[in-house]
Amino acid sequence: MNKKLVIAIDGPAGAGKSTIAKLVAEKLGYAYIDTGAMYRSVTWKFLQTKAAFDEQLISELAERMVIEFRPEASVNRVFVDGVEVTEAIRKAEVTCNVSKVAAIGPVREAMVAQQRRMGEAGGVLMDGRDIGTVVFPHADLKIFLTATVEERARRRYKELTEKGEIIDLATLQQEIAQRDKQDSEREISPLRQAEDALLLDSSDMTIAEVAAFIIRLVQEKENVLCNN
Ligand code: CDP
Repeated sequence: MNKKLVIAIDGPAGAGKSTIAKLVAEKLGYAYIDTGAMYRSVTWKFLQTKAAFDEQLISELAERMVIEFRPEASVNRVFVDGVEVTEAIRKAEVTCNVSKVAAIGPVREAMVAQQRRMGEAGGVLMDGRDIGTVVFPHADLKIFLTATVEERARRRYKELTEKGEIIDLATLQQEIAQRDKQDSEREISPLRQAEDALLLDSSDMTIAEVAAFIIRLVQEKENVLCNN
């Protein structure tokens, strides 16, 4: 039997991480953990309170809340304290606030502790910003997936308009660039490529091509580990 690995996929907003991670995980029989959905869930929970931005309040919410993934064939359903938030956490209000919430130290500590528990047994593919650098610095395979900001905005535009949202491409590109800046410049666990991560620029690749490439890498790694 092949060893089940811990695979980290990091990268900026809209690089296609979640679509690709989901495909690869399904094909390989791995669990897929969308860590962005966890920070989005904390943001959603906080916005529900209607309170003004308050690091202590947000940290307390993050420490107490129970986030659960229930993967289904076409969608990775997300629940917060038993309430389904799969759609709600993708709304613009959450997206605009998530980077500020994700920069709070105790929020990250609470999420990272959960992520480590979810991944410790292996057979897991986790995507985010700090998986290869902080959550699993000894991951078996690390990929830093990126694409030009123009291409990432185009992809996100297509995804959102297909869902019926009305959005302007230029505004979307600005939002993505702004979020990348906040995520890269924050003090704690900023978005950056781990030294031992493979850089994959998907600007000119299809989703299927990127997924096939990663699947091949994982299978090679599984065999090497198995034969040692
Ligand atoms: O899907 P999209 O690229 O829009 O972003 P996401 O993966 O859902 O992540 C949303 C936000 O959560 C990011 O912009 C980061 O601020 C934060 N995040 C983080 O700080 N660390 C992670 N491991 C994952 C996400």
